Amino acid sequence: MAKYKAYFYKKDDIGLLFYDIFFNLRFESNTSKDKSMQEQLSQINQIIAEIKDFQADTKDKLETFKSKYIGKKGEVASLFEQMKNIAAEQRKAFGIELNRLKEVAQDKFKELSETVEAKTQVSSSKPNDLTLPPVPYALGSIHPLVQTRARIVEIFERIGFTQSEATEIEDDYHNFTALNFPPNHPAREMQDTFFIEKNQTSDMLLRTHTSSVQIRLMQQQKPPIRSLMIGRVYRNEAISARAHCLFHQVEGLYVDENVGFADLKQTLYHFAKELFGKDIKVRYRPSYFPFTEPSAEIDITCLICKGKGCNVCKYSGWVEIAGSGMVHPNVLENCGIDSEKYTGFAFGMGIERITMLKYQIKDLRLFTENDVRFLRQF
Ligand code: DAH
Repeated sequence: MAKYKAYFYKKDDIGLLFYDIFFNLRFESNTSKDKSMQEQLSQINQIIAEIKDFQADTKDKLETFKSKYIGKKGEVASLFEQMKNIAAEQRKAFGIELNRLKEVAQDKFKELSETVEAKTQVSSSKPNDLTLPPVPYALGSIHPLVQTRARIVEIFERIGFTQSEATEIEDDYHNFTALNFPPNHPAREMQDTFFIEKNQTSDMLLRTHTSSVQIRLMQQQKPPIRSLMIGRVYRNEAISARAHCLFHQVEGLYVDENVGFADLKQTLYHFAKELFGKDIKVRYRPSYFPFTEPSAEIDITCLICKGKGCNVCKYSGWVEIAGSGMVHPNVLENCGIDSEKYTGFAFGMGIERITMLKYQIKDLRLFTENDVRFLRQF
C-alpha cells in the first residue's frame, strides 16, 4: 500500500513521503504482529483440544506426549519462543494464554502417567502363588453386650418367650402415659428424658425404657402374650463409670389368665440360675413403678464376694439386677385388655449391668469405647 501511495507525492513533499512510508511500514508490521497474535491464539486453543483428547495406555505413548508437548523442543516451548514476535502491548495477554496451555499440558501429563502406572502395575502382578502360607486372618470377637443379650434370649426362648421390637423414638403416650404415669407426676422425673419435640399434642422423645414396647405389643396382640423386648434406651445422664446416656434393656412381659406373682418369682429365679449358676440366690424387694402393682426390685447374691460383702455390693451381699411386678390393671385397660380376665407380670433389666456383674467389669464406658484390648477378652 505504501509503495503505491509514493507515486502521488510531489517532489517537495519528499519529507512527507518518507514519513508516510515509515509510518505505513510500522503500521504494516503492526498488522502482521496482530495477525500473528490471532494465529497463535487459535493455535493454542487447537493444541489444548488435542491435549485433552490425547490417550496413552503405554509408556511409549506417554513419552510421545511428553516430547510432543512439554519437552524442550515441544509445542509449548516453541510457542514461548515466539513470544518475541508478539506486539509488546499484547504480550501480556499472550503470556497468560501460553501459561494456561502449559498448565493443561502438565496436568494431562500427570493424569496420563497415573493411568499408565496403574496399568503396568496390574499387568506386572504375578498370578497367586498357591504354595505360599496364608495371610493371617484377624478374627474379631462378639461384643460382650451382644453375648449377654444372646444368652438372655436363649434362656427365655426355651420357656416360650418370643421377641418384639419397636422404635427408639417414642411419644409421651407410649413411654409414660399409657404406662400409668399421670401427667406432671414426679415418677416421670425418675428417668431424665431426652425430648425431641415438646408441647405438641404428644411430646416426642427418645424412649427411656423398653417398657414402651409392652404398650405397643399389647395394642397389637391380645393374650396370651409371652415376649421379650430388647433394645437401646436413652437417658439424659452425665456419663460416668456407673451411668451412660445410652444403654440397653431387656423387658419381659407375660399376660394370660391366672398369671400370678409366683410365676414371676419362679421365672426370674430360673433365669438367674441359668445365667449366673445354680448357687445364685434371688430376693424380691418391695418397690414402686407406676405400671406394676405390686412392684419388686430383684436382687441376686453378689458374684464378687459371694454374699459376704464388698465395695461392689456396698457391703450388703446383694446386687440389684431388675425391676419387676404385676402389670397394673390400668395398663392392661389402656391397651384394650380386660383386666378382670387377664393378669400379667413384667420385668426390665439393663444388659450392661448384667454383663458388668457377670464379667466383673468396673466401668460402663468400656462398652462403647471400642478399645480392642478390652473387647478381645470376651
Ligand atoms: N422400666 C423400668 C426402668 O427402666 C424397669 C422396669 C421395672 C420394667 C418394672 C418393668 C417392670 O417391666 O415391671 O427403670
